[in-house]
Amino acid sequence: MDKIVIEGGHPLEGEIRISGAKNAALPLICACLLAPGPHVLENVPDLRDTRTMLALLEALGTTWQREGDTLTIDTSGLHSFEASYDLVKTMRASVLVLGPLLARMGRARVSLPGGCAIGARPINFHLQGFEQLGVTHQLDQGYVDAVVADRMRGATICFDIPSVTATENILMGAVLAQGTTIIKNAAREPEIGNLVDMLNGMGARIKGRDLDTLQIEGVRQLQPARIRIVPDRIETGTFLIAAAAAGGELTLTNCDPSLLPSLYEKLRAAGVKVREERERLHVAGNGQLRGVDIKTMPYPGFPTDLQAQMMALMCFSRGLSLITETIFENRFMHVAELRRMGADIRVDGHSAIVNGTGTLRGAKVMATDLRASASLVVAGLAAQGVTEISRVYHLDRGYDNLVGKLAAVGAHIQREKE
Ligand code: EPZ
Repeated sequence: MDKIVIEGGHPLEGEIRISGAKNAALPLICACLLAPGPHVLENVPDLRDTRTMLALLEALGTTWQREGDTLTIDTSGLHSFEASYDLVKTMRASVLVLGPLLARMGRARVSLPGGCAIGARPINFHLQGFEQLGVTHQLDQGYVDAVVADRMRGATICFDIPSVTATENILMGAVLAQGTTIIKNAAREPEIGNLVDMLNGMGARIKGRDLDTLQIEGVRQLQPARIRIVPDRIETGTFLIAAAAAGGELTLTNCDPSLLPSLYEKLRAAGVKVREERERLHVAGNGQLRGVDIKTMPYPGFPTDLQAQMMALMCFSRGLSLITETIFENRFMHVAELRRMGADIRVDGHSAIVNGTGTLRGAKVMATDLRASASLVVAGLAAQGVTEISRVYHLDRGYDNLVGKLAAVGAHIQREKE
């Protein structure tokens, strides 16, 4: 396994090009299953998770090729409806093949994802939604075995919680259903809008993009897609926070500033200068940081996927920050690791109080999940001394060349064999 070694205290200066969004690429790769033929996806990040999803589609009978950040995926040869445990256990988003397989083949056998570091992450909303669309399923040896007699039938579905992947899964099932489907309390993350654009470009009839109610008029068949993946707003936010912690000035390109409405005000309140342009962001982190309170919420609220990174930043402020995590039940795994670097953080249920001491000291720490590992990189960039982060395979799941991008703007960071 590899580790990342960072010598802190070096400001970031220069330009970073943002990659396509992991959480758009994963559902959009699955959506290619809905229609035979060559689909073209542009601006696709090269991540462990996208490679896992492509391996899953390959096992189902799909072929693909990558040229730079453009993927061509041909699902004409689709011959299987089983997503094996070996692949699903490494990536929960594999559950997103349920909707497309049921719509295209009337059958799907997908391993239950199993537990995850940040929470139980059940898929009950997905399964209840498919039941309402006429799907019957049973749990068999850890697999969801789902079947629909002929075609799914439109229904009105209301989610208890605006779940991102449940909204995407039901959306992909409903586009080929007979009749109209209404999804109420739908999630509104921009990655869902990217999926709506792809599906409508394939001939689907979806109304309500970016709203909490989606209306889908089922059609008989769809055509192959050509779509561009939206920029990764979580990668964007991670670099903004990294520059705020390490100091210096960064320009982020190939990004979409409109996708992070709740982050800029928090950074400005903390004393960070952020300037938005059409496809670029400028950030300068040189002043003394102030503590700010954060409460994670569904989009357009503060993203849970930036909570850990923000907590690392608050350790370098002078003041108190109250950070409340409302989406997942166990997303404070990074606290113990930040404490090893000298952080003064107290956790009480879903809230953590950070007493910012203005600095941290480098230490050996361990990545526990994808965004926790990003928070340790942020901490290492600004800490005094050297930080070594083990288990960086977590980081590889969701960041395309993070070490290379940071080294290119002045960070003293490198990847080594453990
Ligand atoms: C998506 O996960 C993202 N993953 C997550 O990003 C992100 O943190 C999350 O949305 C919230 O924004 C992808 O898009 C691939 P949810 P998802 O369903 O869809 C509960 C990252 O770091 N719930 O919106 O799994 C659930 O337990 C990852 O990139 C049910 O109870 O999240 C959670 O408490 C981490 N039953 C809440 O809803 C269900 O059937 C919201 O989860 C589904 C969800």
